[in-house]
Amino acid sequence: MKPLILTLLLGLALPAFADRMPPPANTPASYKAECSSCHMAFQPALLTANDWRKTMNGLKDHFGTDATVDMPKQQEITSFLERNAGDISKLGSAGEPPRITQTARFIRKHREIPVKYWKDPRIKSAANCEACHRGAAEGNYSERDILIPELR
Ligand code: HEC
Ligand code: HEC
Repeated sequence: MKPLILTLLLGLALPAFADRMPPPANTPASYKAECSSCHMAFQPALLTANDWRKTMNGLKDHFGTDATVDMPKQQEITSFLERNAGDISKLGSAGEPPRITQTARFIRKHREIPVKYWKDPRIKSAANCEACHRGAAEGNYSERDILIPELR
């Protein structure tokens, strides 16, 4: 009985920090429609609920763009992100305005990548996950699916 419960608990906890982070099955269509035109639809587990709330409250000036959505979608997307958000103890602070790429977890996972790659014309920005992770949109961050040959 005990080992079974442990296995179940581990199974539930694992996706939060493994290299597989599939988008939640209950992802509303509005999230994809409104949040994946300029960059990929980031998995909710990549930021804390508090940082998603800040992001969603600041869409009017979103990294130099206007990414506002209508009120029903604003509420739907915010509550989806909050419900599926990551844990502060694993992610760490995301800075102001919140950036996935500023979390301690992101920095730790990428610390072996030479600085020049973040500005490489093939990549342009650390937030451009799909430039390096072929399966990022499906939540696949496995080492085996890195597109840049020198980084494999
Ligand atoms: C009009 C274009 C546009 C839309 C629409 C948009 N974003 Fe962004 N987003 C940006 C830009 C530009 C950046 C900065 C990217 C960079 O630094 O490379 C960004 C960055 C982000 C980041 C920080 C990434 C990082 O770690 O550096 C998050 C989180 C984010 N967006 C969430 C969202 C969410 C949630 C939505 C939907 C409500 C959304 N975005 C819609 C343009 C957009
Ligand atoms: C410059 C290329 C590059 C970009 C851009 C990039 N990554 Fe990575 N990422 C890597 C490499 C290379 C590794 C493998 C490091 C290792 O496993 O030693 C990695 C590892 C990871 C891991 C850990 C996988 C594991 O096995 O634990 C996660 C999660 C991750 N990246 C998420 C992201 C997210 C989310 C973004 C965008 C916000 C992103 N990465 C942007 C290159 C990149």
